[in-house]
Amino acid sequence: MWSTTLAVVAILASPIAGHAASSVETGTQAYAFDMSQVYLTNSRWKANENRTVTYLKNVDVDRLLYNFRANHKLSTKGAAKNGGWDAPDFPFRTHVQGHYLNAWAYCYASLRDTTCRDRATYFVGELAKCQANNKAAGFAEGYLSGFPESEFTALEGRTLSNGNVPYYAIHKTMSGLLDVWRHINDTTARDVLLSLAGWVDVRTSKLSYNQMQTMLGTEFGGMNDVLADIYLETGDAKWLTAAKRFDHASIFDPLASNRDALSGLHANTQVPKWIGAAREYKATGTTRYRDVARNAWRITVDAHSYAIGGNSQAEHFRAPNAILGYLMRDTAEGCNTYNMLKLTRELFSLDPGTTDYFDFYERALINHLLGQQNAADSHGHITYFTSLNPGGRKGVGPAWGGGTWSTDYNSFWCCQGTALETNTKLMDSIYFYENKTLYVNLFTPSVLKWAEQNVTITQATTFPVGDTTTLTVDAATKGEWTMRIRIPSWTSSAAEVKVNGESVTGLVTKPGTYASVARSWSQGDVVTVKLPMLLRVVPANDKPDVAALAYGPVVLAGNYGSSNLTSIPALTLGSLRRASGGSALEFTASSGGKTVNLGPFFEAYNYNYNVYWARPHRALPITKPKSVAKPPPIRALSTAKRVSQTADT
Ligand SMILES: *[C@@H]1O[C@H](CO)[C@@H](O)[C@H](O)[C@H]1NC(C)=O
Ligand SMILES: *[C@@H]1O[C@H](CO)[C@@H](O)[C@H](O)[C@H]1NC(C)=O
Ligand SMILES: *[C@@H]1O[C@H](CO)[C@@H](O)[C@H](O)[C@H]1NC(C)=O
Ligand SMILES: *[C@@H]1O[C@H](CO)[C@@H](O)[C@H](O)[C@H]1NC(C)=O
Ligand SMILES: *[C@@H]1O[C@H](CO)[C@@H](O)[C@H](O)[C@H]1NC(C)=O
Repeated sequence: MWSTTLAVVAILASPIAGHAASSVETGTQAYAFDMSQVYLTNSRWKANENRTVTYLKNVDVDRLLYNFRANHKLSTKGAAKNGGWDAPDFPFRTHVQGHYLNAWAYCYASLRDTTCRDRATYFVGELAKCQANNKAAGFAEGYLSGFPESEFTALEGRTLSNGNVPYYAIHKTMSGLLDVWRHINDTTARDVLLSLAGWVDVRTSKLSYNQMQTMLGTEFGGMNDVLADIYLETGDAKWLTAAKRFDHASIFDPLASNRDALSGLHANTQVPKWIGAAREYKATGTTRYRDVARNAWRITVDAHSYAIGGNSQAEHFRAPNAILGYLMRDTAEGCNTYNMLKLTRELFSLDPGTTDYFDFYERALINHLLGQQNAADSHGHITYFTSLNPGGRKGVGPAWGGGTWSTDYNSFWCCQGTALETNTKLMDSIYFYENKTLYVNLFTPSVLKWAEQNVTITQATTFPVGDTTTLTVDAATKGEWTMRIRIPSWTSSAAEVKVNGESVTGLVTKPGTYASVARSWSQGDVVTVKLPMLLRVVPANDKPDVAALAYGPVVLAGNYGSSNLTSIPALTLGSLRRASGGSALEFTASSGGKTVNLGPFFEAYNYNYNVYWARPHRALPITKPKSVAKPPPIRALSTAKRVSQTADT
């Protein structure tokens, strides 16, 4: 699958950011555009962004500062206390604030929204005051958190017994500060970040390798990731040394030799370490890091992911390919997919020749994360787990995973934090570039201002409802460059790319490749991309007779109203019909002698749904249902045990 040799090219990281990064990245062959160069236009993606931005601009910033100020012995200024995972007695309180910083920074970068910018800079200024009061609070220089520094003594001594994950929270704060520095060019964010990173460095430099490895048994987020990034920003090698201390040997070793040892591990604890490995590869050129990141991605996508692109059950990886046995209410934790998408774009940038990465990115973004947000909620609240049990329902998870949609002040779960980022960076991976090549990876209504080539590209589409997208090139000056368009592996051989309505001589539009259009572009050139969608089955790895149904990239869900299902329904494939004359993704099918309505899973709200069906393993082009042999009847598989809940822990 992998290209045989990877040319190692050293190029300056994106020169467009608020400030220039000072170190070179190894291996990067395609760069993301700075967020200030891309924005969304109206669509479901934009609607998600709007809802999250509304919340971000309304949330009470002083409430979010409460635990920081209280811990650093400053006045909490009469702010109310938060509930949920930011309550003043919650062990890893202040884990979530970093995500608000990331999201405010993305909001400002893409939308130039000064309210988001001002909230970020105010927050960072207040964090600086907390850090400056460390002596009075009895903390070492640079420390910054909502819980006492003594938690780290307990962590290192392995006597921590309250479930705290102290470095997990520190990583979030650092990541938020880094993005405020990067995207808003706020030098206070840089200073607070480097001071906190200095505290991490001093603290970890005192531990032996073995002490450190033992400590890494406690979830620590992406400490290797953010420290490698700080190295790439500053060029100061001490941050790279600190990053490497967080290389978790017991996780990296099997992955380096492409061994799947994930079963039983807490899933979201691992993925950030792999993102860190990818960043450490770019920082060092050490191929072992690249292998860890690639192998982890391949293993997770191929052997641990549901049709919607999410992974894990009850937050844990299960045995390789075990899907059917784990169709439960607590599948597909949101954070894991947020992190898998970050990993995916890192790996794409190393190997932009394959569509594997963005085929997965699209699958997980559309089918998991887009619909993780409640489209009926003006603040864009989210579900922690995305249930895949027959009769599942979004926003109705098990109690320990929230049991409901998130709220303004009483949830603050990990998945609420990562969703703030997801829904403010929906523009960040649509396009990539390298020299005179533009990659069009996602089919999302948007505008790209590609300054280096002096062009603006406007993408207009109703995708994934429609199968066509147009890219209009507004070129101030005539220029030669190449547009590489992802032809997804789910499309048919009838995929086509036309320029100004005409076929391009010699252009290959094979599914699972990038179609390259190299030309001298003129003002007003229009590229039309048509990606015919077929009905597909996505079999459960461990039981091909059970499969999800997808139309093009969109996983479908059956609408069961308020009925509870006690088994996986059997569905007669030959009975599937597209309703509404093709203008919407609405289908009907016959299941157990009754008609069931199916629609996009990402739009399945307020009803009990079904995603996996009992059926034979066979592809079916929906446009020609008659040409397909009738599947033999399959008894609905009993899932009485499987759909019963795991104990709430
Ligand atoms: C970022 O801030 C630095 C320091 O204040 C300044 O020198 C630089 O011009 C700023 N860059 C941008 C793009 O605003
Ligand atoms: C998003 O918000 C903007 C600004 O209020 C508005 O113009 C636009 O129509 C909204 N788009 C969607 C899809 O909700
Ligand atoms: C991009 O351009 C630079 C500078 O001209 C060159 O060194 C590099 O090899 C090019 N990258 C690729 C992937 O062609
Ligand atoms: C970009 O276009 C402007 C005109 O809009 C022109 O003045 C400028 O020279 C162009 N830059 C490049 C690099 O072509
Ligand atoms: C379905 O199950 C839920 C939870 O057990 C219960 O509250 C509800 O009444 C059931 N609905 C029907 C229609 O039986």
